[in-house]
Amino acid sequence: MTSAPPGSSRLLIRDLAQVATPAGRSAPVRGAALGEIDVVEDAFVLCEDGLVTQVGAMRELPQLAGPVEELDGRDLSAVPGLVDCHTHACFAGDRVDEFALRAAGAGYEELHAAGGGILSTVRATRAAGEEGLRAALARHRDWMLRAGTTTFEAKSGYGLDRETELAQLRVIRDAGGVPTWLGAHAIPPEFEREGGDAYVEFLLREVLPEAAMLAEAADVFVERGAFDAEQARRYLTACRRAGLELRLHGDQFTESGAVALAIELGARSIDHLEATGPQGVAALAASDVVAVLLPASALFLARPMPPGRALAESGAAVALATDFNPGSAFCESLPLVCGLACTQLGLSPAQALSACTVNAAHVLGRADRKGRLAPGLDADVVLLAADDWRYLAYHLGGPVVDTVVRGGRVVARARA
Ligand code: NIG
Ligand code: FE
Repeated sequence: MTSAPPGSSRLLIRDLAQVATPAGRSAPVRGAALGEIDVVEDAFVLCEDGLVTQVGAMRELPQLAGPVEELDGRDLSAVPGLVDCHTHACFAGDRVDEFALRAAGAGYEELHAAGGGILSTVRATRAAGEEGLRAALARHRDWMLRAGTTTFEAKSGYGLDRETELAQLRVIRDAGGVPTWLGAHAIPPEFEREGGDAYVEFLLREVLPEAAMLAEAADVFVERGAFDAEQARRYLTACRRAGLELRLHGDQFTESGAVALAIELGARSIDHLEATGPQGVAALAASDVVAVLLPASALFLARPMPPGRALAESGAAVALATDFNPGSAFCESLPLVCGLACTQLGLSPAQALSACTVNAAHVLGRADRKGRLAPGLDADVVLLAADDWRYLAYHLGGPVVDTVVRGGRVVARARA
């Protein structure tokens, strides 16, 4: 192996059993295209200066003059770096006590109503300070990277005050994440008396002007015990005016009008959908709003799964994400989510791969650079410890990620 001169880099991943990537160049993919994966056997991926420059069969590998680092891909398969488009990874503390209480029968919404749940993470996050949060997110980001996630979104929403919301957004941005402002996640104790309308008013007046400079999108939790559709409309409309893309947590426990609102406002995505019925499915299928499914969250809370197959079959644009957070989904693994998508949602491995690569990249406004292995796109590659890429979904909870490459450099390896 020879190394590349400083300032430039060349990485050849060679002798791969397979390279698998969503077909085509458009995004999001839906209908039949959701399940179209191009597979090259006995293949290589050439990365130069952070971009993929060539993907092909070994027999087509050109003579490479000059220094090139080589990575042995024998018995491995390559897929695009995974994109986690919905996480709450910027939190302090944990909720392991709550997890044990839930295992003994306590309900998630009941714990929240009693001042625990999301609000207990708000207390820990406020107390951690910006440096504490930085350290916590670095730890969580490392877990995500080892699970194959090379691009992640993370939301605020555990500050619920001006200072901590903005600190969360700064920390996410500095850690290389895509920041989403989730000021409207829960009503904080300071506004318990005045209620949601007054809290939304405060968010828009005191936090939005700076949040809009740090975040790429805004998100709101539309649910009983959180925000109703009217409050969400007010929050999202103001956020859109300030230049943010729109996202919603909707239909997690009840159908609360979030699907119609997402479509009305032209949101990028609506996420959760565990309670969505046939009308919501049909409305989403006829819209450009991406349905982001979070089966690890449904599993973790022992809730019904979202209607994944119905959405995919009716032609909705579907993405998959972890929802990584300390309360409803303490799980950073997109491979595990792909396994759940196939076993619980009725998606095929091919649909699952597109959903957590190109479609997730579209949700984050990055499908022009991420989510496929093709010349000109970012050299983010996951090498799976299997000679068939479908192990991504098949090896449930197993050590399926062998090596992670981001920007053409190896950033995580399972083997020493
Ligand atoms: O997406 N449902 C709202 N928010 C998160 C959970 C946050 C938490 O429990 O800390 C979710 O499930
Ligand atoms: Fe969430």
